Amino acid sequence: MIKLHDKYFKPFISAQQIDQALGQMASEIARDVGDEIPVFVGILNGSFMVVSDFVKKYPKQCEVTFIKLASYEGVKSTEDIERLIGLTQDLTGRTVIILEDIIDSGNTLAEVHRIFKNEKVKTLKIATLFYKPEAYKKDFKLHYIGIEIPNKFIVGFGLDYDGLGRHLPEVYQIKETQHMTNLVLFGPPGAGKGTQAEFLKEKYNLVHISTGDVFRYNIKNETALGMLAKSYMDKGALVPDQVTIDMLNAEVEKNADANGFIFDGFPRTNAQAKALDELMDSKDSQINAMIALEVDDEILVERLLKRGKTSGRPDDADASIIRNRITEYYNKTAILKDYYTAQDKYYGVDGVGSIKDITGRLSAIIDAL
Ligand code: IMP
Ligand code: MG
Repeated sequence: MIKLHDKYFKPFISAQQIDQALGQMASEIARDVGDEIPVFVGILNGSFMVVSDFVKKYPKQCEVTFIKLASYEGVKSTEDIERLIGLTQDLTGRTVIILEDIIDSGNTLAEVHRIFKNEKVKTLKIATLFYKPEAYKKDFKLHYIGIEIPNKFIVGFGLDYDGLGRHLPEVYQIKETQHMTNLVLFGPPGAGKGTQAEFLKEKYNLVHISTGDVFRYNIKNETALGMLAKSYMDKGALVPDQVTIDMLNAEVEKNADANGFIFDGFPRTNAQAKALDELMDSKDSQINAMIALEVDDEILVERLLKRGKTSGRPDDADASIIRNRITEYYNKTAILKDYYTAQDKYYGVDGVGSIKDITGRLSAIIDAL
């Protein structure tokens, strides 16, 4: 994913796919022009990369020139008129092939036809690397099309978003969902996950998805997924990852306009982490960070024993049970630490201190994402 100005873009068409499309256009055009020496006319600014890469693939002799699209103030000073300028060469009797980076509404193409109306060229043909059929509103024939794409904004390979992105060797598509902050919150029992999740939720307007709560909700409300999960649990079997993922998907969809999510209690395994990545990907989003609260074992034991005195939770009352839970946590989460470290998304946070201090440490990480 890349960010240009305020917008996020995701990889869409690789340099290799572009190369292949240009190669195909070059051989088709070369075949059609026969013995003629064509004049390729690029429309600046966007087409500089298309023209450069295209002519390198063109197997025969050719001429290359450029014209430029420039904005003028129209008769009514509120309207902007786009005019092509710079056609100085005499093209009488020549085979002219326009090389466009992209044809969208077709307005630029109308202007091309307007300025060529009085040129006595032999033939005028239009070639474009990208074409958005859903956006095209004109009747002019397009003779060569590299790649048809949906009507979504793209950048790269000459195409810009407000001046940026032209240099990119591949093409990126605008993300439907703009930036979300999605966190996986981790920590051994007693680390203060629940407390911190409450603060982060408020501060960043995130939705806290605790897998435990999601399960209880689905089972209590007897949703189809809840009943399915229960059927496994009743047999004493583990609920398959896909069922859990489907429940999380439903939660994510319910909160489609959230600024992001805090996942708590999931993933627990490598396979689940992968499934979560796929889920986020299908939403045009991603996990931005796994944040683990780090607290020394002795402090955890102390905290939990103290909690046990007031909460009455039997698993909080016995130091050796607590130690086992902590050990199990580290055994299980070591793999996930590796998984997210490999993606450069693991952040360990010192979980000892005042609640406010720890929130401050977590915020510093989130703000820098
Ligand atoms: P048209 O005149 O609407 O066909 O659009 C052609 C011009 O609009 C191109 O030369 C680009 O400058 C710009 N354009 C259209 N779609 C895109 C896009 O998805 N990304 C970047 N520029 C675009
Ligand atoms: Mg253009």
